[in-house]
This record gives sequence, structure tokens and C-alpha cells, in this order.
Amino acid sequence: MTTVLWIVGAYLLGSIPTGLLLGKLCGIDVRQEGSGNIGATNLYRTVGRRVGILTLIGDCLKGFLPVLLAWKLAGLGEPLQAWIGLAAFSGHVFSVFLLFKGGKGVATALGVYLALAPLAVLGALLVFLLLVALWRYVSLGSVVAAAVMPLLVWLRPHSRELLIATALISIIVIVKHHANISRLVAGTESKFRA
Ligand code: G3P
Repeated sequence: MTTVLWIVGAYLLGSIPTGLLLGKLCGIDVRQEGSGNIGATNLYRTVGRRVGILTLIGDCLKGFLPVLLAWKLAGLGEPLQAWIGLAAFSGHVFSVFLLFKGGKGVATALGVYLALAPLAVLGALLVFLLLVALWRYVSLGSVVAAAVMPLLVWLRPHSRELLIATALISIIVIVKHHANISRLVAGTESKFRA
């Protein structure tokens, strides 16, 4: 029962659309601007650096906090934490407050992994930063980092549950970037401007 409550709580927390709310506070509906995504990259692009960074932190915390608290407060182990993390990520991507629409999940997944697999995050972050530095496409960095994450988790002594959750998260992140991938192939994807 406790685990179910943690999973539902994580899903509801993940469902809070940080970027959409911050955008509204600044007077815009980010779904109508830029890429139309409610994530940090689009907030950075359409509202500005500070709001982009705040969105990144908020979305990241939605993944990090439930996983960490489930361990610290309830003593749950990695297998259950993995499902709680997957629930938080699913909330962001399929938000109950947005009729099961949402973002692409990168920042929330980052929060989940910071709590569960920090060394794997380091590897994925290096891949992400290298690709963004070379080509200036955040989406390219996100997709490739998502693709290598299951391998990085598998290389460490993690549970089967975390590996399964990671594979599911990676598949969803990549599918949610389908429009970005089409734009990358067509050469029309927006470049990141710091
Ligand atoms: O995490 C989302 C990022 O990879 C792409 O964002 O706004 O360019 O679709 P965006």
C-alpha cells in the first residue's frame, strides 16, 4: 500500500507542468511558442535564461525528490525507487493536469538518475555536453544521452528494475523527440544560443 501511495504521489508531482506555469507567470503560453514544448530548452528560448534554468531545476526536482524521499523517509530500496522514478517521469510526460500530454522528460529523468545512478548521469552528461558543444542542438544531445543511458546503468551494479525503468524512459524520451529528429534530419532544428 505504501508503495502505491509513493507511486501515485510521484506521478502527481511529476504532472505539475513547471515550465507551463512559469511561462504563464511571464504572460506566455509556451505551448504556442518556439518548439511548443513545456521544457527548459523552450522556456530558455522563448522567455529567457533565468526562467529556462528555473524550469530545469523544477523539472529535475520532480524526479529527484520522490526517489530520494522514498529512500530517506520510507527506507524503500532501489527496485521500488526505480518504479517511483518512472512514475514521476510519466507524470511529466503524460500529465494528468494536461489531459495526458506533457514534456519530453529529459530534466525529470535527470532528477531520477541523480538520485539513483549518479555515475551513469556523469557519463550521459559528458555525452550530452560534448554533442551540444559541437553541434548546438539540445535535442541531439538529449536523444543520444537517452540512448546511452541504459548501457551506462547496465555497466554499474544496479537492479534489474532500474535497468527496465531506464530502458522504458529512454524509449519514451526518444519517441517524444520524433519532431526534433525529423527537423535534425531536414536541417531545420533550432540551434541553442547561450
Ligand atoms: O529536452 C527537450 C530538448 O531536448 C528539446 O527541446 O524545445 O528544442 O524541443 P525543444
